Amino acid sequence: MALSLTINGHSTEAAPGPSLFDYAERLGVSVPTSCQKQGKCKECIVEVTAGMDALSPRTRHEEHLKGNFRLSCRSHVVAEAGEVRCHTMRRGQMRIERHALGLPTTNERITPDPAVTRHGDRILIDGEEIERSAGPIHGIAMDLGTTTIVLRLIDLETGELVADSSFENPQRFGGSDVMSRIHYDTEHRGKLLMRTLAGYLTHAIEEFPVDPRTIYEMVVVGNSTMRDIFFRQSVYSIGQNPYRSITEIEMAEGRRPTTSLTTTGRRSLLPIHPRARVYGAPVVSGHVGADAAACMLAVDLAHESRLVAVMDIGTNTELIVGNRERVLAASCPAGPAFEGGAIACGMPALDGAIDTVSLDDDGRCRFSIIGDGPPAGICGSGLIDLMSELLRTGRMNEMGRFEDGAARIAVDERHDIFFLESDVNELAQAKGANVAGLHVVFSQFGVDFDDVEVFYLAGGFGRHVNVAASQRIGLIPNVPASRIQQVGNAAIEGATLALVSQARRRDLEALVGRVEHCRLETHARFFDFFVEGCQFKPVTPMPRVSG
Ligand code: FES
Repeated sequence: MALSLTINGHSTEAAPGPSLFDYAERLGVSVPTSCQKQGKCKECIVEVTAGMDALSPRTRHEEHLKGNFRLSCRSHVVAEAGEVRCHTMRRGQMRIERHALGLPTTNERITPDPAVTRHGDRILIDGEEIERSAGPIHGIAMDLGTTTIVLRLIDLETGELVADSSFENPQRFGGSDVMSRIHYDTEHRGKLLMRTLAGYLTHAIEEFPVDPRTIYEMVVVGNSTMRDIFFRQSVYSIGQNPYRSITEIEMAEGRRPTTSLTTTGRRSLLPIHPRARVYGAPVVSGHVGADAAACMLAVDLAHESRLVAVMDIGTNTELIVGNRERVLAASCPAGPAFEGGAIACGMPALDGAIDTVSLDDDGRCRFSIIGDGPPAGICGSGLIDLMSELLRTGRMNEMGRFEDGAARIAVDERHDIFFLESDVNELAQAKGANVAGLHVVFSQFGVDFDDVEVFYLAGGFGRHVNVAASQRIGLIPNVPASRIQQVGNAAIEGATLALVSQARRRDLEALVGRVEHCRLETHARFFDFFVEGCQFKPVTPMPRVSG
């Protein structure tokens, strides 16, 4: 019996000898690389989900990798039989939200007012010449998420979108949440997280249909940790109470006027123009980063008279409540459960993911799948639907216990896809962190959920999740559906605005200076709210408290 090897869903029979990279080539699976299988570039990472024992031992080139992560060019098949399943860190086809819709700024025609301008054949940034060329002028907006990355290439003279690109953040080998990335970045020398990311970004930029040297500015948004790893800042202090980034500390000490960062194309390690400016949008405070700031720009909080809320559910959930008078923001450490992490049959929103679920009267699951293939797991929106249906049909109680005493519920017996009571616990804790954040921010603002006139659900998860199911399990507040706007990727929209318009960038810098940061971890009632939020029942207003 031969060994069965599956890479990114493509299967073949394998024999001892060749590396996983060799087999990937035979299967037509593209593996990121800059060193042609020499073990040097560290880009060819794969996550091995089954059959680690069938591979050769870890080599010295892989000392930086833990758990199930390997370099595919260093991992050779050694077993004659069995099964190996793995995937690259750039699987493609992931349902990453690249667009935004329904935002106040979406349909607005922005007059381009970029920092990069042309005078004859002189190309200037803020009036300083950096190149002589009659060629086009491009810029990149980037949303650098813990789990996913989105890039937009913009023609800075017209403001038009030229191309975009999205992929999973390859830094997942350093852990799935920001705290583990901070730990990894602090423990390992050589800025491996940044270097790996730079390799992936380089490939993405080189795939754009323009000469990378015509890219003269880049705007980067992301949570405080992701942004600062990219800019090669120490992130140690973000992981220690009182959780402040280096830029926040320096600003408090009067050593810098803003928490925004700039570097050059050359220092960024990217193939853009060496004298290009790379601008890291300002972080708000603590874990409330430049992605939250970009969301505020996208919903035009600086000019908004209505009371609005923004909730971007992810590994770190961003919460913003306010209007042009006052803004409060918080970051909730929800973890990766809603993105399928830490769930037995969980997976990201890739081809093969079950993304909607309903239960028949006889308890049988009906579901839809992303793509045309068989089901491979359940992604976040499917998990929400499933829990909502289990509640509705009385098979799960408010405490997240299965009523019939079963430890698991079959979703698709044929493909061995199931849902465990222990999965419910993971999701309950992620939900508890989000709900506690909602209660703290709203109570600190002195408003109830009903007072919000527009509730923006941002991000890829927020875009695809079923609102009624989310309200039934108590993930989002019970505000009328007519007030909920599922807007997609607001952070990339904000980054794009800051790229094409200096006026918007000034709005962003000014807005960030006015935001009040709710520190959830120090709030007196956080734990009570968290425990309440772990239960599967609608989120209702709690008695108002002050921080
Ligand atoms: S291909 Fe460069 S390290 Fe494997």
